[in-house]
Amino acid sequence: MRKYLVTGAAGFIGSQLCNRLKREGHWVIGMDNYNDHLYSPTLKHHRVEHFGIDVLNVDLRNEEEMDNLIDGINPTDIIHLAAHAGVRDSFGKEKQYHANNIDGTQNLIDACKRHAPDARIVYASTSCVFAGSELPWTEGKETGKQLNPYGWTKWANECQMQGSGLHTVGLRFFTVYGPWGRPDMALFDFTKNILAEKPITVYNYGDMKRDFTYVEDILDGIECVLNNDVDAGEIFNIGRGAPVQLMDFISEIEKNTGKSAIKLMAPQHPADTLETFSNTSKLETLGYHPTTNIEDGIRNFYKWYMEYNSGR
Ligand SMILES: NC(=O)c1ccc[n+]([C@@H]2O[C@H](COP(=O)([O-])OP(=O)(O)OC[C@H]3O[C@@H](n4cnc5c(N)ncnc54)[C@H](O)[C@@H]3O)[C@@H](O)[C@H]2O)c1
Repeated sequence: MRKYLVTGAAGFIGSQLCNRLKREGHWVIGMDNYNDHLYSPTLKHHRVEHFGIDVLNVDLRNEEEMDNLIDGINPTDIIHLAAHAGVRDSFGKEKQYHANNIDGTQNLIDACKRHAPDARIVYASTSCVFAGSELPWTEGKETGKQLNPYGWTKWANECQMQGSGLHTVGLRFFTVYGPWGRPDMALFDFTKNILAEKPITVYNYGDMKRDFTYVEDILDGIECVLNNDVDAGEIFNIGRGAPVQLMDFISEIEKNTGKSAIKLMAPQHPADTLETFSNTSKLETLGYHPTTNIEDGIRNFYKWYMEYNSGR
């Protein structure tokens, strides 16, 4: 029997991954430290309650706690999603991001070496590692010129994992969105402000594209890797492969809310790349096929957002 341990399990992606694995009848347990780094832990607790998943309160940065966790569970597979995940937020917080994402990940690696050396670690990286390389972004074409501290901690994670000697597989997620999403990300933030008739900040005067990827497609991609024998050290993109103009994304939110956005046009943010575009042909060889377009994805998010906030 496989034993799945999900780190960052109270998070946007982690909670829905635990729920999916549990529904499929798998043995799964999560860990999270419920921090208030990017948004309130209340939403994290609500996700865990809503999905009825088991999440232990453990901090990646605590070596002893991580040793006890891995020793106690002895997982066959670890899906490592715990991280400080803010692209723009990471500016000026380099030490905090290093401590959490690089040192924390090293604690996980070291605990596995000591207590579960045969476990497979499937870990979250990011499309940010491709910054500066030619579009569409294909594995192996990255330049190592990340534009923000978050991106370089994830790049370091890839190096740490590949150098660990453990069976590790990396997944580069492209802008994930959907129900139970993060309040710090554009879809949640724009929806909230448009409904409240407050301004939204539109960087690079709206001239940006993102390869928005629906959360269920991301879970499909993770499962493609979990359900296949993938060689140690491999890295896969998980994206939609269909970049969307930022202004079209905003129009879609306006359609759902029935309100016009008050747009504060701003220059390019130094953390931002202007376009992301995934080539997912490598993951397609394992059966990956994203199915949710931006119209359906935003509609699903909006429906969840209204239900979640009604009466709160
Ligand atoms: N959402 C996206 O668009 C996106 C894109 C690319 C990569 N990723 C990566 O996917 C992963 C999940 O992202 P998400 O969007 O679900 O973010 P999230 O912030 O909702 O989830 C991350 C979870 O990790 C937990 N965590 C952070 N530091 C921890 C620590 N020291 N100990 C224990 N738990 C800790 C947080 O409390 C949080 O619940 C992250 O690694 C992120 O970098 C996300």
